[in-house]
Amino acid sequence: MSDRVVVAGAVYDRGRLLAARRSAPPELAGRWELPGGKVEPGESGEQALVRELREELGIETEPLERIPGEWPLKPGYVLRVWTARLLSGVPAPLQDHDELRWLGPGEGDAVDWLEQDRPAVAEAVRRLPGG
Ligand code: CDP
Repeated sequence: MSDRVVVAGAVYDRGRLLAARRSAPPELAGRWELPGGKVEPGESGEQALVRELREELGIETEPLERIPGEWPLKPGYVLRVWTARLLSGVPAPLQDHDELRWLGPGEGDAVDWLEQDRPAVAEAVRRLPGG
């Protein structure tokens, strides 16, 4: 059986990267992630990403590029990450998160990222448009 895919977004706006602090489950609460969630049957990764960012943060986004690679999560799940551009809305922690933060250049290590997100975050920070 193939692994279930979880997608996450490195959301950019005006040269900053969006970080989200998880409020649940207890073992992940307080750690920061690139927001996203599970791909549902029949969805592409990009479609799932747009839906998850809308549901969790109330924003409309446009996926830009997949960050090469795939990172293991809990058994049976893998993480794939896209960069994405904020199209409209102001992100709000509607589900799963209790704090959001926009990180500027040089602030990539300013929050305590989930271990599994770190390689993609490092690449996303390198790709920060506009500086
Ligand atoms: O919202 P949904 O239930 O579809 O998914 P989720 O609970 O947000 O994420 C599914 C799993 O992927 C959880 O175990 C998250 O901790 C993990 N995840 C992660 O490790 N890194 C991310 N950037 C996003 C999700």
